[in-house]
Amino acid sequence: MNDKWFTFMEDDCLFLHRSWTGFGIYEVTFAAKETGFLITSVHVESDPDIYKRDSDMGEREQLREIIAHVAGEPMPPLLPILIQSKPQLEAVLGDITTEKVDAIVTAADTVLLGGGGVDMAIHRAAGPELRSHCRSLDGCALGRAKITPGFRLAAQWVIHTVGPKWQGGSHGEPVLLESCYRECLARADEVGAESVAFPAIATGAHKYPRTAAAKIAISTVRKTPTKVREVRFVCFDVPTLKAYQKAIGEAK
Ligand code: APR
Repeated sequence: MNDKWFTFMEDDCLFLHRSWTGFGIYEVTFAAKETGFLITSVHVESDPDIYKRDSDMGEREQLREIIAHVAGEPMPPLLPILIQSKPQLEAVLGDITTEKVDAIVTAADTVLLGGGGVDMAIHRAAGPELRSHCRSLDGCALGRAKITPGFRLAAQWVIHTVGPKWQGGSHGEPVLLESCYRECLARADEVGAESVAFPAIATGAHKYPRTAAAKIAISTVRKTPTKVREVRFVCFDVPTLKAYQKAIGEAK
């Protein structure tokens, strides 16, 4: 620890927190090489209320200096650094079908042909082309996600994921719900979608308790490596909005 940075390692990840506020700013992962270590990824807090980002180049230099300081020795000049930002998160009240983002997520069932709830709303707004396209996808497994065009939606893409039915919590529900969020971010990365809107997956017909679901949504999106820069949680009712706002506040 010095006057600016509090640093610690967990497994192969170095965490750099601000000494005064305690906010986590950098997470750096390393891979062992014959001659030492390579930085394989760097995650940077990108919420401007917490940390005002420099350019990637400026960041690279600053990080090199911090790590050199922590390690007590100079870093090789051409160390490859892959800078990834954590996405900015916000929760809003609204109808996800009207979101102007690159991709919206739907809480589908395994056949992907448009069930009820948010899935029905999205299929209606996207038009019949979405269902025709979905027929060619051969369904989607629980906890996984598939991506299609958005057709008549403002969003260019729809990511279809299948959340778990709540059965008391000891039937793998948390792991499956976490997997839904990770899979959706992976599909978004595959097509280069930088802004993604999620509904409260599994909290409707599948009856997942909203507070627990919100915590999983926020923690998973915060810890998953992704190129997505903006994640909006579009809540359909006020209790759900409050649960998401609380979870976002607690994660900071
Ligand atoms: N915009 C945003 N959120 C919405 C909208 C909408 N237009 N419509 C509903 N919601 C919210 C619900 O209030 C709930 O909080 O989406 C959340 C998820 O609810 P469901 O759509 O019921 O999804 P889920 O609980 O995951 O159940 C999925 O239900 O309709 C079937 O085919 C679907 O079998 C699948 C299952």
